[in-house]
Amino acid sequence: MERFVRSAGVYSLDIPYGLDELCDVVVETLAANDLESAYIRPLAFFGEKTISLAPSLHCPTHVLIALRALGDYFGEGQAAGIRTTISPWRKFSSKALPSTVKACGHYANSVLAMQDAVARGFDEAILLNDRGEVAEGTGENVFVVKDGNLRTNDRSADVLQGITRASVIDLCAQLDLPVEVSSIELDDLYAADEVFFTGTAVEVTPIACVDEHVFALDRPIVSRIRAAYQKATMGDDPRHRDWVTFVREASKGAVADLR
Ligand SMILES: Cc1ncc(COP(=O)(O)O)c(C=O)c1O
Repeated sequence: MERFVRSAGVYSLDIPYGLDELCDVVVETLAANDLESAYIRPLAFFGEKTISLAPSLHCPTHVLIALRALGDYFGEGQAAGIRTTISPWRKFSSKALPSTVKACGHYANSVLAMQDAVARGFDEAILLNDRGEVAEGTGENVFVVKDGNLRTNDRSADVLQGITRASVIDLCAQLDLPVEVSSIELDDLYAADEVFFTGTAVEVTPIACVDEHVFALDRPIVSRIRAAYQKATMGDDPRHRDWVTFVREASKGAVADLR
């Protein structure tokens, strides 16, 4: 929600609700719908009245919370590893659009890359930035593992620094797995022992191949991280109890206590 409000602010969408109010509405919406597993999408948008490209001067801001039942984003077989391709579409430069902002219009780039990947028989695309470094997936951050060391990039590679990425870095510290934050070149990707995506929708998803480069099926490090992530996000790891909000038994007061 902090990222939501900050991102909206970059486009002068003034959200007329506080953080607690937004979080409470998500919990209420979840509680009112009988979903076992769902993707939550808060959206802020400009209302009616103008075709101006400076809508903030004319329009009120509207906010909606959308829920969608979601199991494995990539469907059956996701846990076994997905097939990726290097996209012919480059990730947009942060000098054109701020990559750290999560905004609907930014996803035109992802749609082009994803549709191209799927049309060529892959599950997902990996985009390079305009300097040819590995940037990210269409909705995921990338991690590579080499000789027991992990590496992921940051905003200097024009990526959205995801919340799942931050959670995984946190879990790695707990698992005594070193993580270096620096740029990833294509040859780092190809030479990696294990490669995986992180994201709210995909959680921690192993990558089976990048085009014709196939990674080993044995994935000791990704497996450990997946297990730790699962435990933490299901509320089974007391160290990360504050990552979890229980919906069904939550009354408003209980939600506030958990935060
Ligand atoms: C372009 C892009 N990169 C990375 C991510 C991962 O971010 P998070 O872990 O916060 O979902 C997303 C997800 O929204 C994304 O759209």
